[in-house]
Amino acid sequence: MKQGTGDGGQGTEIVRASVRGDDAPAWAMEGFLEINRAGHLAVEGVDALELTRDYATPLYVFSEPRIVANIESLKRAAKAVNRPVKFCYASKANSNMAVLDAVRRAGIDAEVNSGGELYKALRVGFRPQQIIFNGTSKTSAEIDHAVGAGIYAINVDSLYELELIEASARRLNKRARVALRLVPEIGTRSHIGLQTALLTSKFGIAAIDLPHALGRAAQNTELLDVCGIHIHVGSQTPDIEPFADACQALWHHLIEYHRATGRTLDHINIGGGLPVNYMRDASHAADIAETERAMFSAQLDITEVLRRAVEVARGAAIEADALHLFEGMTILMEPGRSVISDAGIVLTTVRNMKTREGVGDTWVLTDAGYNLLLSMNNYKWYYHLISASRSGVNHDTPYKVAGPLCDSGDVYFDIEQGRRLPDYRKLPEDVRPGELLALLNAGAYSLAQMFPYNGRPLPAAVMVRAGGRVDVIRRADTYEDLVAQDVW
Ligand SMILES: Cc1ncc(COP(=O)(O)O)c(C=O)c1O
Repeated sequence: MKQGTGDGGQGTEIVRASVRGDDAPAWAMEGFLEINRAGHLAVEGVDALELTRDYATPLYVFSEPRIVANIESLKRAAKAVNRPVKFCYASKANSNMAVLDAVRRAGIDAEVNSGGELYKALRVGFRPQQIIFNGTSKTSAEIDHAVGAGIYAINVDSLYELELIEASARRLNKRARVALRLVPEIGTRSHIGLQTALLTSKFGIAAIDLPHALGRAAQNTELLDVCGIHIHVGSQTPDIEPFADACQALWHHLIEYHRATGRTLDHINIGGGLPVNYMRDASHAADIAETERAMFSAQLDITEVLRRAVEVARGAAIEADALHLFEGMTILMEPGRSVISDAGIVLTTVRNMKTREGVGDTWVLTDAGYNLLLSMNNYKWYYHLISASRSGVNHDTPYKVAGPLCDSGDVYFDIEQGRRLPDYRKLPEDVRPGELLALLNAGAYSLAQMFPYNGRPLPAAVMVRAGGRVDVIRRADTYEDLVAQDVW
């Protein structure tokens, strides 16, 4: 544990940010991400250069107060709609144990997508009743783990999986709580790789099969406690309608189920997918195709999303003359990205530079490749890039920016020239090797997906706590770690 300081880790004064209000750049977030008196990027008042002096680069940096603030806005939204709402943080977005612990202490529950994430959630202290379990390919061992622990709900992905759960419950002499995952044919304006409610996707049970699955589950109440229906339309969903449509679809099935069996369910789960505005600083907006721009700069008010969900639910219940179904109902949500994305950044050092005579490009080569931010490659994801060494200086000079990996796809632009990313990144004039850069909004689907390609040891991660204390939350790998699991 170290104290974050503004003077090389020796002194006591935290350099507090000096550029605030109208003078602050658009990417800044008061109290969290700012420019300090030295002109450096500061996270919760802790100088980014000091952090990398202590922990090297690349380095993931998280802010616990930002995680807490994101969770507080979820809770405020739940309060505003005055309904029972259960938020289960989608741990796939980032399941580092310290992140899970921060989420748990901030007071929401957890969603897991594998036996490993279930293990981590339990290990960090979530109670079984706080956990829901998604996934398309659960094994019997994973299901046993969930049933044995007595988690809140397993979201069932197929009729076959229902049989596995039933068998597990029988084997363990337990009753398993299950919610059925519906794939309702709802499209969104997100990246196709992040849409999960289309019939062409691999997820869930088709609407036509759901009544049968519900009926099948309801036949065996000794082993199965059918408690909900689940939909997840996808990640980074820019519009409110898909959430409302999902809610409508859920209600249709819930009412049909009630009519057929007289039974009620205790929750509907409208999934995750609340978007994050990756383009708070819109200086590259014109360089990106319109569809991507709309997706990356999406902002949804969570209160409005919940309001619409409640409105749709109440309306459907009234129409079916079954208001009592609505009154006892909990709404579940599984936010991941919106909890952790803007609470994390990646610090990276410029390791090399070159100019291409003729082409006229100046290249900046960093030590953060797509092995640390996989989405940058597979979805051409936009992470705003700034100089952490000279955050307050005009970012008006175009550079080609690339990571250290051995393939041409390891670049911060769209190599296929599809304008899904800007061709050039704007940084201050006269960038030199050694300059520290920062990729913003990089807390989600980054650390959780990193891999040691090209024999690059995985980096450290630190968490800045309220008041500026800095804790290592992931130790950097060593070369020895690179060979630790190999057998030769
Ligand atoms: C079932 C499920 N729930 C929740 C999430 C979290 O989505 P997000 O991180 O966009 O909130 C995902 C991720 O795609 C998911 O697959």
